[in-house]
Amino acid sequence: MIKSSQIRRTFLDYFKSKGHEIVPSSPIVVKDDPTLLFTNAGMNQFKDNFLGIKPPKAPRLADTQKCLRVSGKHNDLEVVGRDTYHHTMFEMLGNWSFGNYYKKEAIEWAWDLLVNEYKIDPGKIYVTIFGGDEELGLGVDEEARTEWKKWIAEDRILEFDRKDNFWEMGDVGPCGPCSEIHVDIRTEEEKAQQPGHELVNMDHPQVIEIWNLVFMEFNHQSDGSLVGLPSKNVDTGMGFERLAMVLQDKSSNYDTDVFSPYIQFLEKTTGHTYGNKEETDIAIRVISDHVRAVGFAIADGQLPSSNAAGYVIRRILRRASRYGFTFLGQTAPFIYKLVPVWAEAYRDIFPEILSQVDFIQTTIHQEETSFLRTLARGTQLFDDYVREHKAADKTVDGAFAFKLFDTYGFPVDLTELMAEEKGWTVDLAGFDAKMEEQRNRSRGASEVKAGDWVEVMAMDGLPVFTGYDTTEGSTHIARHRTSSTAKGQIYQVVLDQTPFYAESGGQIGDTGTLTKGDTVIKVLDTRKENDLIVHFVDRLPEDASGEWLAEVDAERRRRIRANHSATHLLHAALRQVLGDHVEQRGSYVGAESLRFDFSHPAKMTAAEIAEVETIVNTKISAGIPLKEHRNIPIADAKSMGAMALFGEKYGETVRVIVFDQEYSIELCGGIHVPNTSEIRLFKLTSESSSAAGIRRIEATTSDQALDLLNGQVQVLDEISALLKNPKDPRKAVQDLMEKHKQLEKELAQLQSKMVGGMKEELLGKAETINGVQLLASVVEVPNPGELKNLAFELLKALKSGVVVLGAGFGEKANLNVAVSKDLTGQFNAGQIIRTIAKEIQGGGGGQPHFAQAGGKNPAGLPAAIAKAKELMG
Ligand code: SER
Repeated sequence: MIKSSQIRRTFLDYFKSKGHEIVPSSPIVVKDDPTLLFTNAGMNQFKDNFLGIKPPKAPRLADTQKCLRVSGKHNDLEVVGRDTYHHTMFEMLGNWSFGNYYKKEAIEWAWDLLVNEYKIDPGKIYVTIFGGDEELGLGVDEEARTEWKKWIAEDRILEFDRKDNFWEMGDVGPCGPCSEIHVDIRTEEEKAQQPGHELVNMDHPQVIEIWNLVFMEFNHQSDGSLVGLPSKNVDTGMGFERLAMVLQDKSSNYDTDVFSPYIQFLEKTTGHTYGNKEETDIAIRVISDHVRAVGFAIADGQLPSSNAAGYVIRRILRRASRYGFTFLGQTAPFIYKLVPVWAEAYRDIFPEILSQVDFIQTTIHQEETSFLRTLARGTQLFDDYVREHKAADKTVDGAFAFKLFDTYGFPVDLTELMAEEKGWTVDLAGFDAKMEEQRNRSRGASEVKAGDWVEVMAMDGLPVFTGYDTTEGSTHIARHRTSSTAKGQIYQVVLDQTPFYAESGGQIGDTGTLTKGDTVIKVLDTRKENDLIVHFVDRLPEDASGEWLAEVDAERRRRIRANHSATHLLHAALRQVLGDHVEQRGSYVGAESLRFDFSHPAKMTAAEIAEVETIVNTKISAGIPLKEHRNIPIADAKSMGAMALFGEKYGETVRVIVFDQEYSIELCGGIHVPNTSEIRLFKLTSESSSAAGIRRIEATTSDQALDLLNGQVQVLDEISALLKNPKDPRKAVQDLMEKHKQLEKELAQLQSKMVGGMKEELLGKAETINGVQLLASVVEVPNPGELKNLAFELLKALKSGVVVLGAGFGEKANLNVAVSKDLTGQFNAGQIIRTIAKEIQGGGGGQPHFAQAGGKNPAGLPAAIAKAKELMG
């Protein structure tokens, strides 16, 4: 049996022999494209090359790309595991032509590779071509048919419409007609029963598409129209896992060596045998698939979290966890145990994951733990619901099912399952309605309806960034775009050259102005869109043409660069103090402060924090000059000792920032101080946990750090002044606190002595009415608690009798009535208090032997006492 690693190798070697340069996969997590969260096709990293914004590395390229189809236009999540041939994460083998070869070669080579290299029986193959579309104004792809006819019988060339044979990355962007290759791997008997061509594109698990050849020649505009791309291109994508199934003669992707290690591991750890029962099989497939998706996403920098991309990853992991919980009886975390199995499988082709195994395991373990807790809580809630709602029709309300989903992460099918076990059903229509409501809410809030770029001036290549050397310069507006959101219009411009730094590598985007004559336009933010530098402006000028002066807010930029360089000094100091396991996990470099996330298992001690701070400040005062290598080959950078960050896409040549060869060397595209002395001061403001195994440091530098310290000094001065400037203010405060404690103690003693004295005096006032001792009086006590104590003490002293006390506390009045147990048959404290409380305009209640009331009329206290005496008479 041919191994999957060999299958991959053969593909790459084949296209290499046809003059293709083999390139690495781009990260599975997309950073600079607002239309995408994850790489969903091999062509994503070449989007700008197709659009003509950027020249390709070479006219012919090939690779294997890590893809994730779990959001947006291409989303397979719900069917994964239920069928045997869809995946969340999969590898896409692809070859590309950028205006070089076209349909003839793409088709010829695809056929040659499948039939002559991989030796697939041509009798198993069907191909499809685009059948045309009126709305798009395109006819049948006869050119593709002509090319295919050279290799395959005409009755195996099938026409399909736009849905199947016109490929688009998203609603807008590069697209084109495509031609797919399908294989029929059913048995001869099955084939005799129904011809394969009837099953193409019919979701049959053994008549499936393996390769898509896209003839990328259009750009889909936001108004729906197609505009020709600068050149005619080829984008092909072959599903690696499906190809393995065909070549390894299996009937399911999960039976190939790509998945068998996970399945075997799960069989061993859960005790369930794969192939026995539909529902456990699905669970095993779901988990085997999902661990790969989650692993690659974390390795490429996307942790599970509650925001957009992070939430997608969290949901995938929860789906796996839930299947394990429900069908495999896994009530404790277990998915994390598969991580080493996964890492082993990819060590040769994606070695970047190897050093991350521990980190990924910890992250997954923590997520599993918290989800299982949520599951337990949700299950409890569900049981309570069923107990409390004795609905005649035994239906779980849609709103409740939605609450379980939204707050507790319960997929609705889990709720259905639990309902079923109790003989209940779920109001799915109600659930869907709630879901739709929420979707509309979030869509309304965040959806951007992107406009099309309007070209003002043709650009030759990509915009030039001049911001490493200057903060201003003359420029031209090359294109602009107006997009709309629920909150209003967004205006964007692209300049032919710009000093504005676009947010990336944690450093926020520059702000500033564009000026032409009297016209001044504010630049509110600068961000990247793939390789374009996009300026967000407050408005578009009436006339965008001509020369403009671009000016970055230089003061703000100065603060940003101090924070950025300080981040590098901090990173190096952390490795020095804590160890080499410290790896950057995220960073934010703003104008006011910086934030740095890094891997480290424990809270930093005060001594470690102090040491880090001292090192950074020493490096600042050492006045280390910046050494910048703007364009050096990545291999050279690595041999200098520069650290690459996982999940970052680096080109062939990189920029390296050095502050002392022996201290800090980093790959970085950001802006830095020319000399560390410009940072002036570094002040760490907090150290906390940001996720499992990840610490977060927040800090400020320069003027902000000085302001912070000065502010603290000022508070100290003011406190000192209040204390009459003692020599040692700390001791003065301690003394003060000590004294305060002492005084409080004395006060309490004094008060109880006072109350004690009062007790004697009051007992003398007791009178006997109808043979019952009554003590009724207005008293002065410090608080209601003392009033109650006094009432009880007096009653105790009387042994048998009734005590009625009243006291005023500022605007308020309180009354207490206490009746000795032997008299509760005759007198009820609760009833007495209700009557007399009226005098203080209040109310209250209690038990027969004790009751209290509060009111807002202290002046009525004597009347209340008199009333009490009356009641006894
Ligand atoms: N872009 C096409 C796809 O993703 C071919 O690579 O199917």
